[in-house]
Amino acid sequence: MDTEKTLEGFLRDGAENRPEGKAVAATILAFADAAVIVQETIARGGSGDDLAAAQNHQNAGGDMQKELDVVADRAFLDAAKRSPVGFYGSEEQDEAVQLGDGPLALAIDPLDGSSNIETNVSIGTIFSLLPATDAHRADPSSVFRQPGTNQLAAGFFIYGPQLLLVVTLGAGTRVFIRAPGSGGFVAFGPAPAIPTEAKEYAVNVSNRRHWATGMRRYVDDLDAGAEGPRGHDFGMRYVGSMVADAYRIFRRGGMFLYPGDTRKGYERGRLRQLYETNPMAFCIEQAGGAASDGTGRMLDIVPDGLHARTPFAFGSKAEIEALAGYLGKDA
Ligand code: F6P
Repeated sequence: MDTEKTLEGFLRDGAENRPEGKAVAATILAFADAAVIVQETIARGGSGDDLAAAQNHQNAGGDMQKELDVVADRAFLDAAKRSPVGFYGSEEQDEAVQLGDGPLALAIDPLDGSSNIETNVSIGTIFSLLPATDAHRADPSSVFRQPGTNQLAAGFFIYGPQLLLVVTLGAGTRVFIRAPGSGGFVAFGPAPAIPTEAKEYAVNVSNRRHWATGMRRYVDDLDAGAEGPRGHDFGMRYVGSMVADAYRIFRRGGMFLYPGDTRKGYERGRLRQLYETNPMAFCIEQAGGAASDGTGRMLDIVPDGLHARTPFAFGSKAEIEALAGYLGKDA
């Protein structure tokens, strides 16, 4: 049997000759169990009455926590504690937690797209695994200041009509689906290969009036379609759950944007670098796409702490290059 057909087989093969390969494999398998808990909680409609019920507590990003945020954070923290994870950095916790001497640092958004919980739209969990060394244990504040190029593995689960895992160990990106009968995750579809050219884009256009001139001009030119300077029509799709917008791009290409804008607190956009943009950028590059902060490669940017925000663009390579041209004109 082709061992890459199961998640276990893929991780076992991927662990060979890789730094911390076995630790990474064990951790991702524990995450797969946590994802099943979250998906089943969603399917039941919650552990209490309302998955979207506010918990009277703001997370580090300033968003009100909802019941499902707390369920997901607990499930993945438990999984991390059973794994060789030394540091746990979560969107839902103000500070990183040191769990022990394990060789991995986990940055995680336990529940991406929480504004969509009550709408039965796909949401997800995004994770990034970084090396944790003696130097990081001596100075724990440094462990989440590593650039995305240091990631050992990254991926995201999608809680949607299907429970999917998109994952990279640095040698291509693969998709796995939870097979309802067997309970395990098995390979799903071809390995994503993002087309160089985009036919669709995704951005929250209601923020247009807050954007910088170059960003507005870029989207105006996309909207001008075949009659405009870009010379062809672009469709627009925006779910508002990054994992769902991203999965569409993995399967048929396109462009996703969350730029900085003039709103208070949005100068560097909305998305968090450690546990949203870096893991997504790693998966995207490994599937043949590109990811940037608008002008520079996302994975090269050194984050300035666990909850750092960054403008973000990812998708088809030609579009990332085109965007950089427009934003360059802004300067
Ligand atoms: O916080 C993350 C997130 O929910 C992403 O999943 C999504 O792409 C984005 O925020 C949506 O933000 P907005 O509602 O401002 O468009």
